[in-house]
Amino acid sequence: MAILKVARMGHPVLRQKCEAIDPEKITGPEVQRLIRDLFETMGEYNGVGLAAPQVHMPVRLCIAGGEVDDEGRNNYRILINPEITVLDEDDRLGMYEGCLSLPGLRGWVERPASIKVTAWNEKGEKIDFALEGFPAVVIQHECDHLDGILYVDRIEDMTKFAYEQEAERFLDTVGEDMEAEEEPAG
Ligand code: NI
Repeated sequence: MAILKVARMGHPVLRQKCEAIDPEKITGPEVQRLIRDLFETMGEYNGVGLAAPQVHMPVRLCIAGGEVDDEGRNNYRILINPEITVLDEDDRLGMYEGCLSLPGLRGWVERPASIKVTAWNEKGEKIDFALEGFPAVVIQHECDHLDGILYVDRIEDMTKFAYEQEAERFLDTVGEDMEAEEEPAG
């Protein structure tokens, strides 16, 4: 296990389209090590998700959280070669997003609130599920990383892009649909 260095905005690894992972290699040592290192790195920086290119590995693998199970534990999904289908384009959810590759910043982004996801999981099994609300936003943020997209690319009103402290002081970072500690940082 290892805590990996997180690439910051400006590093070209964050701007490339990542390579698909051969599903037959998912259970092999390289992919399994990458999954463990992503979890350890995400935990170190208190992220709610993390994508492989953020640790300088341009492959289509990410971890996304934001879901809490019945016992109050955070549930993280490991997604390999994920594909997202928007279920309702008109149903949108906005929030101040953050990202470990843009430390200390927050920006208002609106995304589809309900999606369907197909992917492979860490056992090499094909999975699909529907998701809505905060965890759906987290998954979209992480999957964007796999296409070289950062949340800043999706900010429409640049007056709603700020340093964390100023965002908390001057912008309405705690709306009805979210809580302050739930802003995605991945
Ligand atoms: Ni991110």
